[in-house]
Amino acid sequence: MSSRKEPELPAKPKSGFSRRSLLQGVGIGSGMLGTGLLEQAQAAPPAGVVGPGPVPITLNINGKPVKLNVEPRVTLIDALRYNLDMTGAKRVCDRATCGACTVIINGKSVYSCTVFAIDVQGKNIETIEGLPAPPNMHPVSQAFWDNDAQQCGYCTPGFVMACKNFLDHHPNPTEDQVKHGLGGNLCRCGTYMGVRKAVLQAAKSMPKGGTKNG
Ligand code: FES
Ligand code: FES
Repeated sequence: MSSRKEPELPAKPKSGFSRRSLLQGVGIGSGMLGTGLLEQAQAAPPAGVVGPGPVPITLNINGKPVKLNVEPRVTLIDALRYNLDMTGAKRVCDRATCGACTVIINGKSVYSCTVFAIDVQGKNIETIEGLPAPPNMHPVSQAFWDNDAQQCGYCTPGFVMACKNFLDHHPNPTEDQVKHGLGGNLCRCGTYMGVRKAVLQAAKSMPKGGTKNG
């Protein structure tokens, strides 16, 4: 009868250099590495670099200077909605697809989810809050009302701002120009026919040469 041979255990390291000591060594090493990186991160940023914490900025919104503190990573839509409680522009896709966040910056329609608030200092920002409210609404807002150009309303503030800016630049548009000029705004409720009619109506009552928030 053959006797079963016991499995051999791994020999103890002769050098005294064990797995435990290896791990301890790596731990100390990475700790030193981490400390070095931490020191680097805590060092004063190069000139001209701000953040990552909140920094004071001033935005020119609807003709008024507005001061706020934001981290440099904050987009304009978030600064408007969460820092300034200006909730007209909507954050829907948050990736330059739908136009619900449209505001006008220096005379151009801009998706406010695509720009950093800190980068639009010194620029003229127009938002839906700057347009006259009832009973004397801006011609575009009035035309939306008259033509039933909204349902849930989520796309509406962005659409109104895009339409206003479009008419500022195209005071006498054709139907085809309206269709193509507003191609950057989506309406999930499908109010496009009403919106196009609204733009054509507003074109008749808008002051020629563009409006400044009203
Ligand atoms: S939320 Fe900015 S484009 Fe959709
Ligand atoms: S009215 Fe609902 S998304 Fe346009």
